[in-house]
Amino acid sequence: MADTGSAHRRVIDVLWRGEDPFAGFPRSLYIHDPSGWNSNHEYLGQEVAKIRPDINVEVGVWKGGSTLTLARHLQATKTDGVVIAVDTWLGSSEHWVDATRSTDLSPSYGYPQLYYKFLNNVIVAGLQDYVVPLSLDSANAAIVVAKLDLRPSLVHIDAAHDYEGVIADLTRWWAVLRPGGVMICDDYDITLKVWGTVGMAVNDFLARNRHTDFAAIPYKCRFTKPA
Ligand SMILES: C[S@@+](CC[C@H](N)C(=O)[O-])C[C@H]1O[C@@H](n2cnc3c(N)ncnc32)[C@H](O)[C@@H]1O
Repeated sequence: MADTGSAHRRVIDVLWRGEDPFAGFPRSLYIHDPSGWNSNHEYLGQEVAKIRPDINVEVGVWKGGSTLTLARHLQATKTDGVVIAVDTWLGSSEHWVDATRSTDLSPSYGYPQLYYKFLNNVIVAGLQDYVVPLSLDSANAAIVVAKLDLRPSLVHIDAAHDYEGVIADLTRWWAVLRPGGVMICDDYDITLKVWGTVGMAVNDFLARNRHTDFAAIPYKCRFTKPA
């Protein structure tokens, strides 16, 4: 597939030294299954259309549901942009605790194979020129993105769901987000009933950090880093 623009090429060159991780992937080996949570939320498309971000980071990718939404909107708005998809693809604690969720990790000899499902889903959607995987934990990925000067204009946070983990993700990615950039957080609800730990962490973070344009619709919130 032809490269659609310079943002994708630049990220491949910088992050993967020119080697696209999607190149040569054996698509026929994996089942197409882009299931996720809140993956088509309207904030994802709205913010892409509004700020036309060249670099987007998603922290917490799973099988790629919301990554694909961001990528689809980049494509539809003809934005020269890319989603850096950050995940260990090893699941969150809740996927290991809850037996009904843990089968979704697709373990093979004790090691989750989620990453390959994600790659396949992106390829089936034909959006690999808008997505670059970064198979790292959130803390290391934030350092890499900052040191390689790939600062995003949009960050979507959907990784840890425990209080400390959410605060840590917000803090490290807020520091990396460009001034004027937008942060979107998943599983935020104003009543704190759905994911109370996430809601409390977001509220506490916002109380301590200057921001503008806060808005929330079940089950995500968004806010802007002052320019
Ligand atoms: C709720 S799922 C993401 C759902 C996805 N955004 C969607 O639309 O379907 C959470 C993901 O966060 C990842 N994750 C959890 N903690 C992480 C961490 N510290 N660093 C990187 N990824 C993490 C898990 O592996 C899992 O894939």
